[in-house]
Amino acid sequence: MKYGLLSLLVIGLVSATVSEDKPAAAYEPTHFFRTQILPILKTRCFECHSEAEGQDDGGLVLDSKAGWIEGGDHGPAVVPKNIGKSPLIRAILSHDPGTVMPPDDPLPPLEIALLQTWVLLGAPDPRE
Ligand code: HEC
Repeated sequence: MKYGLLSLLVIGLVSATVSEDKPAAAYEPTHFFRTQILPILKTRCFECHSEAEGQDDGGLVLDSKAGWIEGGDHGPAVVPKNIGKSPLIRAILSHDPGTVMPPDDPLPPLEIALLQTWVLLGAPDPRE
C-alpha cells in the first residue's frame, strides 16, 4: 500500500484545483482521462492490449472503454471506485514477475498513482 498515500496526494491536488474558480475545466473528468490516463495506456499497454494493433494478450484490450469493461480472461479489468478489486490496479502493483504489468518494466510510482486516482474517480472514460 505504499502508493496509497501518493494517490491520496494526487486526488488532493485534483480536488484542490477543482474547487478554484477558473482552472476547474483543466480537471474535468474527460480532460483528466485524455491528458493523464490515455497517454499512460498508449505508451505502456497498447503494445500488447490494443484491438487496433491486433494484440489482446490475456484477452484484454485497453484501446476502448468496452475493452476494460468486458475485460480479459479473468473478467472486467476495472471496478470503478474500487482499486482493491480492479485487476488492472492489482496487475500494476504486483511484485510477482509472472503477473506484473507491464511485464519486465514496472510503472513509475506517479503513473501508478494516476491510474489509481482514475479508478477512484469512477474511471471516467469518454471513448466510444
Ligand atoms: C509486453 C506485453 C504486455 C504489456 C506491455 C502489457 N501487458 Fe498486460 N498482459 C500481457 C499478457 C501476456 C497477459 C496475459 C497474462 C496471463 O494470462 O498469464 C496480460 C494480462 C493482463 C491483465 C489480466 C487480464 C485478464 O483478465 O486475465 C491485465 C489487467 C493487464 N494485462 C493489464 C495491463 C496494463 C494496465 C498494462 C499497461 C500498464 C499492460 N497490461 C501492459 C502482456 C502485456
